[in-house]
Amino acid sequence: MKNNKIITIDGPSASGKGSLAKSLARELNFLLLDSGLLYRAYSYSFIQTGNHSDAVNFFSELLIENVLGEMKVFEDKNEITSFLRDEKVAKSASKISSEKETRDNLITFQRNLINENGLVADGRDMGTVVFPDAATKIFLNADVEIRAKRRLLELQKSNQDVNMRDLIEDIRLRDKADQAREISPLIAAEDSIELDSTNLTPQEVLKKALGIYRIQTAES
Ligand code: DC
Repeated sequence: MKNNKIITIDGPSASGKGSLAKSLARELNFLLLDSGLLYRAYSYSFIQTGNHSDAVNFFSELLIENVLGEMKVFEDKNEITSFLRDEKVAKSASKISSEKETRDNLITFQRNLINENGLVADGRDMGTVVFPDAATKIFLNADVEIRAKRRLLELQKSNQDVNMRDLIEDIRLRDKADQAREISPLIAAEDSIELDSTNLTPQEVLKKALGIYRIQTAES
């Protein structure tokens, strides 16, 4: 039995998953799960502690909650969300997320977010592993150059010093690592619908995603 109250959005970094998930959650009044942020918070916890059993305790002390439709992370009342968005954290999250302990330690947290109102979950393995019974599964992709350009604009907004060439290289390497890992690799679920956002505005992507949601939930 498919769950009409779960929408999964998987795809590579900077494909536009985050903004689509946010606007879908807002439009439908669903809760948002930004699983990449969880992996970033876990990798931050791992760096502080050096091993998985202490990392899981450190992670459980962080406050992770939806604030005005966005997921935020607080450590001792200080918000660390923008720090976690740093490219350095992204690299360590990509590495630590390939370990089985990491994924095992985060799966229950993610499934506990299922609720009556609905959930939009954004990540790499939402439709394949974490929420396999979701009625709506979208795999969002875009050309690497456009993804790097979007990431550049995003990072420049927070005054991070980056250039296009390095970003393209980083994104390619991260895609490779996310796709090649043994556990929960980045792949489209068999029952997902692929959406290419290369030549679409965020509004056009949202419109298409809402169309997919309506069709998928009418069918199940
Ligand atoms: O979406 P993001 O860039 O914030 O994700 C950060 C890293 O976390 C990314 O390199 C891969 C990992 N990740 C994952 O392995 N599984 C997920 N469901 C989400 C993110």
